[in-house]
Amino acid sequence: MNTIMTVCALFLAAGVSLVFAAEPAPKDLRLFYQSNCARCHGADGSARDAQGKSMKGQDFTEARWRADSSDASMVKVILKGKFFGLAMPGFRSQLTIEESQRFVTEIIRQAVKGKAIEPEPKAPEAVQP
Ligand code: HEC
Repeated sequence: MNTIMTVCALFLAAGVSLVFAAEPAPKDLRLFYQSNCARCHGADGSARDAQGKSMKGQDFTEARWRADSSDASMVKVILKGKFFGLAMPGFRSQLTIEESQRFVTEIIRQAVKGKAIEPEPKAPEAVQP
Protein backbone atom coordinates (compact mmCIF):
# COMPACT_ATOMS: atom_id res chain seq x y z
CA MET A 1 0.00 0.00 0.00
CA ASN A 2 2.74 2.38 1.00
CA THR A 3 4.65 1.66 -2.18
CA ILE A 4 1.63 2.45 -4.32
CA MET A 5 1.14 5.73 -2.50
CA THR A 6 4.78 6.65 -2.99
CA VAL A 7 4.63 5.83 -6.69
CA CYS A 8 1.46 7.90 -7.06
CA ALA A 9 3.04 10.82 -5.24
CA LEU A 10 6.09 10.64 -7.50
CA PHE A 11 3.98 10.65 -10.64
CA LEU A 12 1.99 13.55 -9.30
CA ALA A 13 5.12 15.51 -8.50
CA ALA A 14 6.58 14.81 -11.94
CA GLY A 15 3.31 15.88 -13.59
CA VAL A 16 3.15 19.08 -11.60
CA SER A 17 6.73 20.05 -12.41
CA LEU A 18 6.10 19.33 -16.10
CA VAL A 19 3.14 21.68 -16.07
CA PHE A 20 5.20 24.41 -14.46
CA ALA A 21 8.11 23.86 -16.82
CA ALA A 22 5.81 24.21 -19.83
CA GLU A 23 4.56 27.60 -18.68
CA PRO A 24 7.09 30.20 -19.91
CA ALA A 25 8.17 32.61 -17.19
CA PRO A 26 6.90 36.16 -17.83
CA LYS A 27 9.58 38.31 -19.38
CA ASP A 28 11.39 40.60 -16.94
CA LEU A 29 10.75 43.85 -18.79
CA ARG A 30 13.16 45.81 -16.62
CA LEU A 31 15.93 43.45 -17.51
CA PHE A 32 14.85 43.71 -21.15
CA TYR A 33 14.98 47.50 -20.81
CA GLN A 34 18.54 47.40 -19.48
CA SER A 35 19.81 45.34 -22.36
CA ASN A 36 17.73 46.82 -25.20
CA CYS A 37 16.60 50.36 -24.44
CA ALA A 38 18.95 51.92 -21.88
CA ARG A 39 21.66 52.64 -24.44
CA CYS A 40 19.38 55.22 -26.06
CA HIS A 41 16.91 56.13 -23.34
CA GLY A 42 19.35 56.16 -20.41
CA ALA A 43 19.52 53.95 -17.32
CA ASP A 44 16.65 55.89 -15.70
CA GLY A 45 14.66 56.53 -18.89
CA SER A 46 15.52 60.22 -19.00
CA ALA A 47 18.00 59.83 -21.86
CA ARG A 48 20.24 62.16 -19.92
CA ASP A 49 23.30 60.04 -19.25
CA ALA A 50 26.17 60.04 -21.70
CA GLN A 51 24.77 57.15 -23.71
CA GLY A 52 21.17 58.31 -23.85
CA LYS A 53 22.26 61.78 -24.79
CA SER A 54 24.40 60.73 -27.69
CA MET A 55 21.63 58.49 -29.05
CA LYS A 56 18.91 61.13 -28.48
CA GLY A 57 16.20 58.79 -27.26
CA GLN A 58 12.95 60.17 -25.91
CA ASP A 59 13.09 61.35 -22.27
CA PHE A 60 10.42 59.20 -20.58
CA THR A 61 10.39 61.39 -17.45
CA GLU A 62 9.26 64.48 -19.35
CA ALA A 63 5.80 65.13 -17.85
CA ARG A 64 4.59 67.18 -20.79
CA TRP A 65 5.47 64.50 -23.32
CA ARG A 66 3.99 61.78 -21.13
CA ALA A 67 0.70 63.66 -20.83
CA ASP A 68 0.54 64.35 -24.55
CA SER A 69 1.33 60.80 -25.70
CA SER A 70 -1.22 58.03 -25.85
CA ASP A 71 -0.44 54.47 -24.81
CA ALA A 72 -1.32 53.34 -28.30
CA SER A 73 1.22 55.59 -29.99
CA MET A 74 3.97 54.44 -27.60
CA VAL A 75 3.10 50.79 -28.13
CA LYS A 76 3.26 51.35 -31.86
CA VAL A 77 6.72 52.89 -31.69
CA ILE A 78 8.03 50.11 -29.43
CA LEU A 79 6.85 47.48 -31.89
CA LYS A 80 7.60 49.25 -35.17
CA GLY A 81 10.46 51.57 -34.25
CA LYS A 82 10.95 55.18 -35.18
CA PHE A 83 11.82 56.63 -38.55
CA PHE A 84 11.77 53.28 -40.39
CA GLY A 85 13.84 51.69 -37.65
CA LEU A 86 16.73 54.07 -38.26
CA ALA A 87 16.22 56.32 -35.21
CA MET A 88 14.95 53.44 -33.10
CA PRO A 89 14.66 49.77 -34.01
CA GLY A 90 11.28 48.06 -33.70
CA PHE A 91 10.97 45.25 -31.16
CA ARG A 92 8.16 43.33 -32.83
CA SER A 93 10.16 40.11 -32.95
CA GLN A 94 10.97 40.19 -29.23
CA LEU A 95 7.91 41.71 -27.57
CA THR A 96 4.23 40.85 -27.84
CA ILE A 97 1.60 43.59 -27.98
CA GLU A 98 0.73 42.81 -24.35
CA GLU A 99 4.37 43.14 -23.29
CA SER A 100 4.68 46.46 -25.12
CA GLN A 101 1.57 47.70 -23.36
CA ARG A 102 3.06 46.63 -20.02
CA PHE A 103 6.25 48.47 -20.99
CA VAL A 104 4.23 51.66 -21.34
CA THR A 105 2.23 51.35 -18.11
CA GLU A 106 4.85 49.75 -15.88
CA ILE A 107 8.07 51.36 -17.06
CA ILE A 108 7.69 54.38 -19.32
CA ARG A 109 4.85 56.01 -17.40
CA GLN A 110 6.60 55.26 -14.08
CA ALA A 111 10.06 56.52 -15.04
CA VAL A 112 11.60 58.87 -12.48
CA LYS A 113 14.68 60.97 -13.19
CA GLY A 114 17.69 59.55 -11.34
CA LYS A 115 16.00 56.25 -10.48
CA ALA A 116 17.58 53.44 -12.49
CA ILE A 117 15.24 51.04 -14.26
CA GLU A 118 16.49 47.68 -13.07
CA PRO A 119 15.08 44.26 -12.21
CA GLU A 120 13.18 44.07 -8.91
CA PRO A 121 15.34 42.55 -6.20
CA LYS A 122 14.34 38.90 -5.88
CA ALA A 123 12.98 37.58 -2.60
CA PRO A 124 15.72 35.62 -0.84
CA GLU A 125 15.32 32.01 -1.94
CA ALA A 126 15.20 29.07 0.42
CA VAL A 127 18.69 27.69 0.93
CA GLN A 128 19.14 24.54 -1.10
CA PRO A 129 20.58 21.58 0.84
C1 HEC B 1 18.99 53.08 -31.13
C2 HEC B 1 18.43 53.88 -30.09
C3 HEC B 1 17.12 53.45 -29.44
C4 HEC B 1 16.82 52.26 -28.83
C5 HEC B 1 17.70 51.03 -28.70
C6 HEC B 1 15.48 52.39 -28.30
N1 HEC B 1 14.99 53.63 -28.61
FE1 HEC B 1 13.12 54.34 -28.17
N2 HEC B 1 13.53 56.07 -29.17
C7 HEC B 1 14.73 56.37 -29.80
C8 HEC B 1 14.60 57.64 -30.47
C9 HEC B 1 15.70 58.33 -31.28
C10 HEC B 1 13.28 58.09 -30.24
C11 HEC B 1 12.62 59.35 -30.77
C12 HEC B 1 12.92 60.55 -29.95
C13 HEC B 1 12.22 61.74 -30.52
O1 HEC B 1 11.27 61.60 -31.27
O2 HEC B 1 12.67 62.84 -30.19
C14 HEC B 1 12.64 57.07 -29.41
C15 HEC B 1 11.34 57.16 -28.96
C16 HEC B 1 10.74 56.23 -28.14
C17 HEC B 1 9.42 56.34 -27.62
C18 HEC B 1 8.48 57.50 -27.83
C19 HEC B 1 7.68 57.32 -29.06
C20 HEC B 1 6.83 58.51 -29.36
O3 HEC B 1 7.25 59.33 -30.17
O4 HEC B 1 5.76 58.62 -28.78
C21 HEC B 1 9.17 55.22 -26.87
C22 HEC B 1 7.89 54.90 -26.12
C23 HEC B 1 10.35 54.41 -26.93
N3 HEC B 1 11.29 55.04 -27.70
C24 HEC B 1 10.51 53.22 -26.27
C25 HEC B 1 11.62 52.40 -26.38
C26 HEC B 1 11.73 51.11 -25.74
C27 HEC B 1 10.70 50.49 -24.81
C28 HEC B 1 12.93 50.59 -26.12
C29 HEC B 1 13.51 49.24 -25.78
C30 HEC B 1 12.66 48.08 -25.94
C31 HEC B 1 13.57 51.57 -27.00
N4 HEC B 1 12.74 52.65 -27.11
C32 HEC B 1 14.81 51.41 -27.59
C33 HEC B 1 15.87 55.61 -29.79
C34 HEC B 1 15.96 54.31 -29.30
